[in-house]
Amino acid sequence: MRSRAWQALGQHAASPPRLREVFAQEPGRGARLAAEAAGLYLDFSKQRVSDETLSLLFDLAEEAELADQIRAMFAGEKVNRSEDRAALHVALRAPEEASLIVEGEDVVPAVHEVRRSMAAFCEAVRGGEWRGHGGERIRHVVNLGIGGSDLGPRMAVRALQPYTSDAPALHFVSNIDGADLAGTLRGLRPGETLFVVCSKSFTTLETLTNARSARAWLLEALGDEAAVARHFVAVSSNRAAVRAFGIDDANVFGFWDWVGGRYSLASAVGLSLMLAIGPERFGELLSGLHAMDEHFREAPFSHNLPVLMALLGVWNRNFLGAEALAVLPYDQSLELFPSYLQQLDMESSGKSVSREGEALPHATGPIVFGRAGTDGQHAFYQLLHQGTGLVACDFLGFAHSHHELGRHHELLMANCFAQSEALAFGKRPEEVAAESGEARLVAHRSFAGDRPSNTLLAKQLTPYSLGALVALYEHKVFAQGVLWGLNPFDQWGVELGKELAASLASELAGGVGAEPFHDSSTRTLVARYQALRASDPSPR
Ligand code: F6P
Repeated sequence: MRSRAWQALGQHAASPPRLREVFAQEPGRGARLAAEAAGLYLDFSKQRVSDETLSLLFDLAEEAELADQIRAMFAGEKVNRSEDRAALHVALRAPEEASLIVEGEDVVPAVHEVRRSMAAFCEAVRGGEWRGHGGERIRHVVNLGIGGSDLGPRMAVRALQPYTSDAPALHFVSNIDGADLAGTLRGLRPGETLFVVCSKSFTTLETLTNARSARAWLLEALGDEAAVARHFVAVSSNRAAVRAFGIDDANVFGFWDWVGGRYSLASAVGLSLMLAIGPERFGELLSGLHAMDEHFREAPFSHNLPVLMALLGVWNRNFLGAEALAVLPYDQSLELFPSYLQQLDMESSGKSVSREGEALPHATGPIVFGRAGTDGQHAFYQLLHQGTGLVACDFLGFAHSHHELGRHHELLMANCFAQSEALAFGKRPEEVAAESGEARLVAHRSFAGDRPSNTLLAKQLTPYSLGALVALYEHKVFAQGVLWGLNPFDQWGVELGKELAASLASELAGGVGAEPFHDSSTRTLVARYQALRASDPSPR
């Protein structure tokens, strides 16, 4: 049974506003349908919404008890029900004088204690006091992690590259494919390389496999077990497993089970980012995150950026039929932002059951993809403009570039604004016909328009604005999950593949897996693989 607000939206969606019409009717629409917080300006006027649509969406938020859920998350309640945990990543960026309680305990002092030890370590490495086993300065840092223990810091190190002078070079290895680690280590000198083994659980196959091979690489060159203490540190909430791996307790930066992997950038998972930009800039990132947290907690829904984006996301997905969301940063430094957002959004919202475990009667998370502008324009925008399906878009842009070079920046931003304009208003067949006499091309050259987008605009990509952007999407994803009635903090859907891979790995090694029979396709593939494997590899 659908809720009343859901039904009302369904009826309303039978004739959604046409963008040409609503813009013609209200000259001030572009300025009115906008909101601003923590230095981020959101223009949502190019969404197919009217005031009535928005009011129905606010009814939906009320029906879903969104305000209460936001309060519960900030209060440290166990909003991650299936794992019986709080989701209190906002505590990671709370100022020292704040207090946030989990199970009767104020967690803020512990957060700041870990931050101080991270800062001391990063200063020592960056300043050259922390040296390798042979006394060499650390010039390369390799983060070994995957998913939330890789995508956030990797994206942020790339985004904040202009702030990384005086830092060792940062590298990220995530894939279990040996090509990833081998390709990264080629050219690095063991004596000046530091590994950050980053894994919340410290059981993740990819990360531990890479960490073991990295340790072997180091020891082969340095020949002394004692070297591990100067070249390996860990970020984890599982100290026992870190100890078992052989990393000294003194070299572990901890965090807590109430920090979800994909929500963990501000925890010790940000260690490699702090090594890259230094503790002070890291503090600015936290201020941006915190400013957006406070906005999310306090602003009325009509001006609340994460809430507005969540409501518009549901409108596009469930009522206008958008199956995908394209994230389109017009800033090369944010080239990894779409990949980061893929995990944040798709691992959070790709669910078919409610918080209570019942089948959901509506669609949930969209496919999230994207690429830095303008490269995407020459790859997949054709489908955005003229494809048969609907793809909602988020454009991201900045007024200042860190690389002012001739007219590059204004040409970049002209493209950003042009694309959302083209998507929204299209080009009618009569306009095409009036421009060119070639009747046979009119259909090919027409654009239906009415393709919805948000545009986020900020002054410059800085640690602060990146923090605000990350928190904006974290909270949008959470709010959207509440509207859909799902738990955005668990990820049971990754487990089955992991179990089967463990079983197959043992079979490929000649042992007996837990699932020795499999299906005929998997059996045939394994047999074919083993036969190919027994033959000589192709000559290079
Ligand atoms: O892909 C599943 C997952 O559990 C993610 O949620 C998580 O970010 C990633 O694996 C890595 O986990 P860990 O930090 O425990 O190694």
